[in-house]
Amino acid sequence: MRTSAYIANEQHIDLDSEIRRLQNQVNLTWQKEARNLINFGLKDEMSVLEIGSGPGFYTELLSDIVPNGSITGVEIDPSLVEYSQQYLKDKVHCQHSVIQGSVMKIDFPDNSFDFAVARLVFEHLPDQISAAKEILRVLKPGGKLVLIDFDFGIPPVSYPIVPEAEVIREKSKNAFMAIGGDPLAGRRLWSMLKGSGFQNLDIEALVLHSGKQGILSCYPQFDPERVLPLVEEGLVSEAELQSYRAGIETFMSSQDPFFIRVLLMACGEKA
Ligand SMILES: C[S@@+](CC[C@H](N)C(=O)[O-])C[C@H]1O[C@@H](n2cnc3c(N)ncnc32)[C@H](O)[C@@H]1O
Repeated sequence: MRTSAYIANEQHIDLDSEIRRLQNQVNLTWQKEARNLINFGLKDEMSVLEIGSGPGFYTELLSDIVPNGSITGVEIDPSLVEYSQQYLKDKVHCQHSVIQGSVMKIDFPDNSFDFAVARLVFEHLPDQISAAKEILRVLKPGGKLVLIDFDFGIPPVSYPIVPEAEVIREKSKNAFMAIGGDPLAGRRLWSMLKGSGFQNLDIEALVLHSGKQGILSCYPQFDPERVLPLVEEGLVSEAELQSYRAGIETFMSSQDPFFIRVLLMACGEKA
């Protein structure tokens, strides 16, 4: 069985553009995420476990909150481990390491970390409760886990509306489910934390939008080229892609196009 529905160089245009998309996605919401992380209890000098640390863009920003702490990444994909090690070399000022491995078996003793974060990871995991239990094991008593995910039931919205996006979204959801992804992860974060033994739960929603950084900053979120792998797999027809391209073109050339997507952040504490 796959241990994750996410493989950076599969179902995406290619590894480089997927890495650029992840970087863009971090920058779109970081300030709001940082506020929530701090509200949930993240502070300097903590030892932080970052699950699914990917190319390292989130690690770089996290390190600003814990300059005298440490960050340990656990990343399953060796190519992203290597990328992040290169990328972060002179960018992270706290103690930092990334190990190649799965959240399902974290190579650390019980009670090792003050804080853990898994951003856009749990929606890809087939056994979310076991993953959360494994994080609970390595957290110290009083330690917190923050899970961050989208939910397909809270779809992106735009003005003007792009009607052609509906069919693409539905088919993307089906393709995501077919490889073991959980399109309802966002609304299930609470039950994942509760079901794995976390206490004092909380959940926040934040808005990713094009208002401040401009519509081009959000383009990777709806770039029609991202649909190409689905066309190659025969899940989306060439005609549907053409129609979606035309819809996005009309949207982009409209006056003041605006895009919104909602991200959910849930937090739980180890007793
Ligand atoms: C969508 S990316 C998000 C990367 C990063 N957290 C961010 O927000 O930019 C999901 C990441 O989780 C990693 N991942 C997926 N399954 C994993 C597992 N079982 N254990 C550890 N990492 C995993 C992927 O390889 C990928 O780097």
